[in-house]
Amino acid sequence: MKLRNKTYFIAVTVGLLSTAISCKKPTDDSNGGGGTTGCQQVEMTPYTWVNPVRFPIADIPADNVMYVERINLGKKLFYDARLSNNGESCETCHKQSMGFSASDVSTFDKGLQKMPLVNLAWYKNFMWSGRIVGTLEDVMYAELTKRFSTDFTKINAIQEYKDLFCKYYGTDNITPELMAKPLAQFMRVLVSKKNKYDLYLLGEGKLTYNEEEGSKIFFSEKGDCMHCHVQLLTTDNAFHNNGLDSLYAKDIDKGRFNATGNPADLGVFRTPNLRNVALRTEFMHDGRFKTLEEVVNFYDHQVHIGVKNIDPVMVKPAKLNGGLHLTEIEKQQLIAFLKALTDEEFINNPEFKQ
Ligand code: HEC
Ligand code: HEC
Repeated sequence: MKLRNKTYFIAVTVGLLSTAISCKKPTDDSNGGGGTTGCQQVEMTPYTWVNPVRFPIADIPADNVMYVERINLGKKLFYDARLSNNGESCETCHKQSMGFSASDVSTFDKGLQKMPLVNLAWYKNFMWSGRIVGTLEDVMYAELTKRFSTDFTKINAIQEYKDLFCKYYGTDNITPELMAKPLAQFMRVLVSKKNKYDLYLLGEGKLTYNEEEGSKIFFSEKGDCMHCHVQLLTTDNAFHNNGLDSLYAKDIDKGRFNATGNPADLGVFRTPNLRNVALRTEFMHDGRFKTLEEVVNFYDHQVHIGVKNIDPVMVKPAKLNGGLHLTEIEKQQLIAFLKALTDEEFINNPEFKQ
């Protein structure tokens, strides 16, 4: 696999070069040994993180220095059903063709929709409720220990993994903390930055008339979407109650309240990323809407404006009748714009494939 650099990206210094030359055990992120004697880390290919133009600068943890080999190890783990005890791999619920999401909700997650894995390098708040705050390494640790209950005795008996961890992390004692590291690196490189709208902004592509009008609705007071689905990430990675419910019938509808216990967080969710949203088959935390038309109709006239902690953006004077009240053509234009957020390069990128 060759990870490419694009000329129009700004390279961000993450101190890779200075730490990448020798084949000695790393001081930056050594697991402290503990493997069999003679376990020797090899020289690796430094991965230079490039921050897409106009994106905020991503925060790459210094204690998990990126190398091409480590990213590939993370990818191998992502597609390996041996991590779970029920035949599932990460890919079962996070499919590249769907923007690393999947159709139908997850019973393990009490009916929560499977999340897209895209541009996670910019996140601090993870999961629908924001129940994990921290790094991708923290999220990976949780997915391994809580979701999969990965059997590390089984994993440590797989010679191939012992060899790979020895070569790339200098130890063959595979722990959940250690396995989280290459997985997090693979998550970090799942960057979408070339959808139709990106290309339009870069002057490398055009939008149709309807897509362009839709973008104006999305990014103006007319639609008000951009307050939460901010450019260019399409999420502010923050929390809002967008007026989906007036009563919280199911436990998962309580959102952030489930993480904090604070009544002010009832029905509050982390703003989802809308990149590749048109590839999904279900929308909102519980997948209640099956089409983008249903989503737009919700924002148009079904918002529960009476909810106590609803986001102020949702209850501006013009919206007190339950939403935006767009014309049919404007709704279609908004949907056309959402479809322009599909990133063909991302979903077909061979570097992300098994
Ligand atoms: C059975 C389906 C399923 C499997 C298997 C699964 N996930 Fe997930 N994943 C989900 C669901 C559902 C959520 C949202 C959970 C929540 O909000 O509480 C999620 C959330 C995430 C997130 C957080 C995304 C965000 O935007 O905050 C990441 C990252 C992630 N999964 C990666 C993985 C990795 C890596 C694996 C394998 C180790 C994995 N998942 C296995 C269903 C799954
Ligand atoms: C006040 C913040 C806010 C505003 C304004 C807002 N959204 Fe959202 N959006 C959210 C939150 C939070 C969710 C998740 C809610 C949930 O699942 O319960 C969401 C969910 C969505 C989803 C579903 C995504 C998925 O993966 O299931 C779409 C599509 C969407 N919004 C589009 C829009 C559009 C289009 C507009 C403008 C008309 C808009 N949003 C305005 C915060 C906002």
